Amino acid sequence: MNAGNINEQGYGTFTKVLHWGMALMVIILIAVGTYMADLDKADPNKMELMGMHKSFGAIFLMLAIIRVIWNRISHTPELPEVLATWEKNLSKTVTATMYLLMMAIPFSGYAMTNLFGYPVSLFGLIDLPVLFEKNIEIAKLAKQAHPLLVYALLVAIFAHIAGALKHRFIDARDADVLPRMMSIKPRP
Ligand code: HEM
Repeated sequence: MNAGNINEQGYGTFTKVLHWGMALMVIILIAVGTYMADLDKADPNKMELMGMHKSFGAIFLMLAIIRVIWNRISHTPELPEVLATWEKNLSKTVTATMYLLMMAIPFSGYAMTNLFGYPVSLFGLIDLPVLFEKNIEIAKLAKQAHPLLVYALLVAIFAHIAGALKHRFIDARDADVLPRMMSIKPRP
């Protein structure tokens, strides 16, 4: 069995690991990001958590880039024939939006850090390349954009999950796409 391409059961192992691993990461990044942003500047946990958030966020960005490349070189299954054209178009739009945001969110965090005058460090072990020179005005814009992009992602994730559940429980049996991405039986 090919570990990457789809097979009769659906997506390959690598695609599934990326999908569910990044889903878990995004939940933790949003939870930790929201918690640490509210902490007092004097709280030593703030810096500690921010370091972790930036490191995992940078890894997330790398995984998002790998995922886009992987999608282009591996075979992606078509949407079920039974879906209406509007539903297929909506599904593709939501997916494309999620990909865009999965890169834009960590990129805005990365840019914010550089623009405030700091390199992004991976767990204090290596500094990643500095992509932007210090510019506090633009840094403030990136700081505002970061959570706004997260809200947009939450809306897209909601639409993504609602679509998957609709195809499983409301639409025709052949519309069910969940078994392609997780180990559950197709509808009887
Ligand atoms: C998918 C990846 C990421 C997600 C989902 C995410 C999410 C969040 C969220 C929800 C917040 C709280 C915002 C607020 O309530 O004001 C936050 C704050 C922050 N994030 Fe991220 N983030 C990601 C990646 C990154 C990366 C890669 C960096 C930097 C390398 C970064 C740097 C920051 C910083 C510095 C803050 C604190 C901003 C402040 O002080 O208000 N983030 N992030």
